[in-house]
Amino acid sequence: MAISKEINDQKKYIEKIKEINKDKKLKYSILTMGCQLNENDSEKICGMLEEMGYVKTTNNDEVDLAVMNTCCVRENAEDKLFGKLGELKRLKENRGTIVAIGGCMMQEKHITDKIKESYPFVDMIFGTHTLYKFPEDLYKVIEEKNKLIDILDIDGKVFEGLPIKRDSKVKASVTIMNGCNNFCSYCIVPYVRGRERSRMPKDIIDEVTELAKKGYKEITLLGQNVNSYLRVERENNVEFEEYQGINSFATLLEAINKIDGIERIRFVSPHPKDFTDDVIDAIAKCDKVCKLIHLPLQAGSTEILKVMNRKYTKEQYLELVEKMKAKIPNLTLSTDIIVGFPGETDEDFEDTLDVVKKVCFEQVYMFIYSRRIGTPGDKMENQVPDEIKHKHFDRLKELVESQIEKNNQKYIGTIQKVLVEGKSKNNENMLTGRTDSNKVVIFEGSEDLIDKMIDLKIISEHMWYLKGVVNG
Ligand code: 5AD
Ligand code: SF4
Repeated sequence: MAISKEINDQKKYIEKIKEINKDKKLKYSILTMGCQLNENDSEKICGMLEEMGYVKTTNNDEVDLAVMNTCCVRENAEDKLFGKLGELKRLKENRGTIVAIGGCMMQEKHITDKIKESYPFVDMIFGTHTLYKFPEDLYKVIEEKNKLIDILDIDGKVFEGLPIKRDSKVKASVTIMNGCNNFCSYCIVPYVRGRERSRMPKDIIDEVTELAKKGYKEITLLGQNVNSYLRVERENNVEFEEYQGINSFATLLEAINKIDGIERIRFVSPHPKDFTDDVIDAIAKCDKVCKLIHLPLQAGSTEILKVMNRKYTKEQYLELVEKMKAKIPNLTLSTDIIVGFPGETDEDFEDTLDVVKKVCFEQVYMFIYSRRIGTPGDKMENQVPDEIKHKHFDRLKELVESQIEKNNQKYIGTIQKVLVEGKSKNNENMLTGRTDSNKVVIFEGSEDLIDKMIDLKIISEHMWYLKGVVNG
């Protein structure tokens, strides 16, 4: 894979820190909030740190470098960060731990102002566009004992070749694009992650081919707007190098589908407006693309969707679902829904329930609307009172749970292909894995099944997971 010049420069700082850290056996901890893109960024931070000689620990008392990779999509992440900072203050006083905070929340000025003012012990703040400079920034903190804030307001470039330490040996995330141009009126992402920019096809294919060679079986393609991959480039005639005929999300799926060794392809998070016919056809045609598709609804009322700037109506969403169901055999859907967006009436909320009833999602990620400073939604005057938000949330949850329970019944007695991930967190004696439709299945089996794709017969359902037995 091509390594960007900027990354080669950073490798020199990695070497310098490695030299300083020699024989010290320094330990780091990392806390990741938010989405899979952030998790993938954290894997890159871990990759850089481990090349510098740091070893990961979860034991707070021995941490020499504490990293936090933050999210700002909803308010609760802020509470979590400031709670954690209180804890880190003690560590700083006791051990002189270096404290570094990065990620989306650091792109918000009111947050960095608050940190500077109330948490002056924080050593390093880095943004989403300066992640690649982490080694250089850390070097300055260590060598010059300076506080350092390195945040770029403008859109970051795409850099190739950062080291990466992946969490799993069979499942890997591959970021294919970054940023968002949609400006949904509730969402902070376009302000903190900047405009859409795609990685070049060859770099992605090289990375996935390399992963396949290492034994990875499942690839999740990531992007804030994953199915608009290369769209901006195509529309604005920005030159890019085609590779194996890849010039769109559909052609990328087709190319990855051909890579030997890869058995499953997933992608998050798409936008309904970018599910063009070529993408739907590619999903239908590519046997490795999982047939659970995430299709964020956000709200069921056309009026609310308009104010949210989602660019589709309730009817268009339902038509898209019908079209996808007709073209893609065994399609299942998951979605994101926000309740309590400004101006949402009881009637609007009934539309959301109506769509949920009609589509019968496999999984629904439900969120209570959270005001984000700087977004149009925050400035709207008709905010919904908390008690109504919670009442609606509870009603939605009840409907979703009853549907999931009913839906789970269809699995009982079936044989499912499951990629085994490891021991179940809640029960040491059981193994856990996921179906094509991303359902968790737990079962009894020997540890050599870990990392393998196996057939399981489903014997019971328990709302959030299924139970299976090894088949044959
Ligand atoms: N409040 C609540 N939920 C939000 N999301 C994005 N912004 C907000 C907000 N301000 C949800 C959307 C999105 C998911 C990742 O988070 O449903 O799809
Ligand atoms: Fe946010 Fe909308 Fe962009 Fe998704 S598509 S990141 S919800 S602005």
